[in-house]
Amino acid sequence: MKPEKTTLRAVEGTKDIFGVEMNRFQRIMKTAAAIFGRYGYSAIATPTFEHTALFARGIGEATDIVEKEMYTFTPGSDTITLRPEGTAGVVRAYLQHNMHREQGFVKLWYAGPMFRRERPQKGRQRQFHQIGVEAIGASNAILDAETIRMALDFFDGVGVTGVVTKINTIGCMKPECRPAFREKLRAAIAPRLGELCKTCQGRFERNILRIIDCKNPECQKVRATLPRCDEHLCDECNTHHAAVQEALTAFGVPFEVNPYIVRGLDYYNKTVFEFSHPALGAQDAIGGGGRYDGLVEELGGPVTPAVGFAIGVERTLIAMEALNCCACGTVLHAYGVAVDEDCRKALAGLVIRLRHAGYNVDMDYESRSMKAQMRTADRRGAVLTLILGSDELAAGQVTVRDMREGGGQERIAIADAIDRLGIMCQARETPCGGSAS
Ligand code: HAM
Repeated sequence: MKPEKTTLRAVEGTKDIFGVEMNRFQRIMKTAAAIFGRYGYSAIATPTFEHTALFARGIGEATDIVEKEMYTFTPGSDTITLRPEGTAGVVRAYLQHNMHREQGFVKLWYAGPMFRRERPQKGRQRQFHQIGVEAIGASNAILDAETIRMALDFFDGVGVTGVVTKINTIGCMKPECRPAFREKLRAAIAPRLGELCKTCQGRFERNILRIIDCKNPECQKVRATLPRCDEHLCDECNTHHAAVQEALTAFGVPFEVNPYIVRGLDYYNKTVFEFSHPALGAQDAIGGGGRYDGLVEELGGPVTPAVGFAIGVERTLIAMEALNCCACGTVLHAYGVAVDEDCRKALAGLVIRLRHAGYNVDMDYESRSMKAQMRTADRRGAVLTLILGSDELAAGQVTVRDMREGGGQERIAIADAIDRLGIMCQARETPCGGSAS
C-alpha cells in the first residue's frame, strides 16, 4: 500500500535545514562555541526527553508550556516529555552529577532541538532549536549584565545587527516583594476583569503576572492603568535591578527598561530580559532569559542562585536572511574532472591524497561530459579544477584551472600536486570564516 502523501512531508511545525540555511546554522553554532568559550562557558548536552515531572516542577504547572504545549508520552510506566526548553535539564544534570558540591559555580552552554506544541506560524515551530547558557552558583548583578553582553556579542558575531535589549525585574518571593505586588495587581485588575481576553481571565487566578505581557490590544489597554512591577519591589531587588543597569552601561550595552517583560516560565526572579528583532514580525523575541535563584532548590538541591538565557536559532536564521548575512559554507578547494574511466581512477587516487593533506576536494563520479563536469565545478564554487585527460595521464601530469574570472590554467606533475595546490588556492577565507575547516 502506498503511504498517504501527507506522511511523506515533514510534520507541520517542523522543518528541514539544508543548503544556504545550514551554512548559516553552522555559523551560529561555531560563533556560539567561540563567544561562550571566551566568557568561560563549557558545553553540555542533556537528553532531548526527561521525566515530565522535571518540567512540571521546573517551568511551573500554570504556564502555557506545561498546561498545553508539551509532547508527553507514557511508554510503560514512565511519563516522559520531549524537552520544551533547556534550563530544567541542565539544572537536573548539575544536581545529578554533584556539580554543586564539586565545582560550586559553573557556566554551561548547550544547543539542540526543543519541542512545543504551539500553533505554527512564521518564527514559531513545534520543533525548533535553541542555544542557551546557564551560569549557576552566583548572585552578583555583574553576572546578569555579563550574560546579556555575551548574547549581544553572539548576535554581532553572526552579523545580526539591530537587536533590541529589554530588561525588567519581577522581584522575589519575599512577602513584601512579588507576593505583595501580585495583590496590588489583583486589586487593580478585579474591577476590569470582564475587559480582558478569555486567556487572561483564566490567568487572573492561576498566573496573574502573565496578564501584563498579553499581546491582545484590549488587555494592553487595561495594562496601561496597572501598577508597575519595578516600582513595587523590596529593597534587595531594587538594589539588584540598579546594579544590573549600572553594569550594562559599563559594558556598553544599549537597553531599555520595559516593565511589561514578565516571561512565560515560572522559575524567574529579579532580572528578566528579552531580545527582539524587527525582522521577525509578530514573534519578535529572538532570545530571552533571566535570573532563577529558586530553581535549583525547587529541583531538590541547595539554595543556589543562577542566571541564563536561550536564543532561538530559527529566529536568528530569519534575521540573518533579512540582513543578508554571509552564508558561505566550507570552501571547496578543488573539483576533479576526468575525461574517461582510466583517468577517473587516477584522479580518485589524487583526490584522496589531497584530502589527506587537508584540502577540501570533490570529483565527478557520474562519467558525464567535460562541459557538465566543469559546470558542476563552477556551481560548487571550487577554487581550482583538476582536469585529467589521457595526455596528462600519460605524462604523469594534471591540468589545474583557476576558476576565478580571468584565472589561467597550467599543467603540473601529479607528484607535485599537494605542494602546488596550497600555493594556488591561497586558502581563500570568506568573511564569516567559512573556510577549509
Ligand atoms: P524562552 O523565552 O521560552 O526561554 O525561549 C527562548 C527563545 O527560544 C525565544 O526567545 C525564541 O527565540 C525561541 N523560541 C521559543 N519558542 C519557540 C518556538 N515555538 N519556535 C521557534 N522559536 C522559539 C527559555 O526557553 C528559557 N529556558 C531561557 C533561559 C535559559 N532562561 C534562563 N536560562
